[in-house]
Amino acid sequence: MAGMAVAAPLRTYGAAEDRARILRAAPAEASLRSSAAVPARVWAYDAQVPGPLLRVRQGEAVRVRLENGIEQPTTVHWHGIRIDNRMDGVAGLTQDAVPPGETFDYAFTVPDAGTFWYHPHNRSWEQVARGLQGVLIVDEPEPPTVDQDIVLVVDDWRLTDDGQIDEASFGHLHDWSHAGRLGNELTVNGRPRFDVPVRAGERLRVRLVNTANARIMNLRFEAHTLMLIAVDGQPVQPRPVPDGELRLGPGQRVDLMIDMSLDPGSRAAFTEVTGGGRLVAGEFVYATDSVARDNPLDAPVRLTTNPLPTRLELDGATRVDLLMEGGAMGGMAGAIHDGKEMTIRQLVREKRMAWAFNGVAGMSEAPLVTAKRGQTVVIHMRNQTAWPHAMHLHGHHARELMRSGAPVTDETWRDTVMLEREEDVAVAFVADNPGRWMLHCHMLEHQVAGMTTWFEVVS
Ligand code: C2O
Ligand code: CU
Repeated sequence: MAGMAVAAPLRTYGAAEDRARILRAAPAEASLRSSAAVPARVWAYDAQVPGPLLRVRQGEAVRVRLENGIEQPTTVHWHGIRIDNRMDGVAGLTQDAVPPGETFDYAFTVPDAGTFWYHPHNRSWEQVARGLQGVLIVDEPEPPTVDQDIVLVVDDWRLTDDGQIDEASFGHLHDWSHAGRLGNELTVNGRPRFDVPVRAGERLRVRLVNTANARIMNLRFEAHTLMLIAVDGQPVQPRPVPDGELRLGPGQRVDLMIDMSLDPGSRAAFTEVTGGGRLVAGEFVYATDSVARDNPLDAPVRLTTNPLPTRLELDGATRVDLLMEGGAMGGMAGAIHDGKEMTIRQLVREKRMAWAFNGVAGMSEAPLVTAKRGQTVVIHMRNQTAWPHAMHLHGHHARELMRSGAPVTDETWRDTVMLEREEDVAVAFVADNPGRWMLHCHMLEHQVAGMTTWFEVVS
């Protein structure tokens, strides 16, 4: 690699260390809004927002000791890692939540290279919103040659007028039954604005991560051609991003290759445009000189493939429907919760539930599907709500087969799949990772208000 990453603190650790790396979740402070008189009181890993960038090589063993310094039980979920089930960090399903003052040792290997992230999986709607989240990069054995490898964690925060986390609105049923907790402050890498110094002629690998509780980000890099090289950590056939604009749901990641094609001294913004406005998140700030190269970088970066299943046996696949219902303007009459039939009024008033999967609000007794290890599973998700959702599959990556009746041919593997309102999507994956796994909406308020289920892979 010709250059070094300037945009995020890189902390490399790995198998060479025989002690676990300590990751401490605790109260901290962060300057999330530039005009605020005092920093925001947050919860953070290692007092950083986002948490420390964890970086390992593909196939390496990761050892992290979580220390719980917050006042609630917590866990760490390693989002997108095809992980050993016991290390998946799901409170109530794969482990007990870690009480305040206690620790938990995570030890696992990382089969896939790519861009992943980590966050609590207990009261995540509150703990992630307070700042507990970080990025995990798994490096390819031979990373592609780039001048800078940059991580941009895009997040939104709901802050009070004096710039503190808006605690009073945690648990608001309106958020839970509508779009989720949308913020009023956008940050990149925990800062209100994040500029990236570049030189004309440089090639950047940009890893974008949406860690917002609920906001779908429409991100635009102005004046540059973006090549998409990976989605949710998994390499794709490099392809240009139409109009330079990306729609990224909560939990989703993309890796981009961007050549710095403007003249020395230029500036070009990256913006978030969901609100209809053009919110500047940062700029590429060009130096006054350019990079001298012997061989121009004309061939696009091609990432080495990850050890994903090479074949989906669709003929013998186990097929299951997932009907997504509820929410405001959804017309759901009722659902089963904790084994009891309830009307929508009871669900909302007594149980704070607003959504259901296949007629069940919240975790069901029985799994959505039990698959034999190695079996191909097709899940046909039908979003019969008036809201978009970002469905996250644990322990596996899935391929979209069909979207709103049209076949999907791009062969992209994802761990988080977006469904627009009233859209339906069929995904397929090989159930090759034994254990009990979550499938839920990553709009964290939808998750807690009912949009959650699980499936099982047995030997
Ligand atoms: Cu990123 Cu089940 O979560
Ligand atoms: Cu949702």
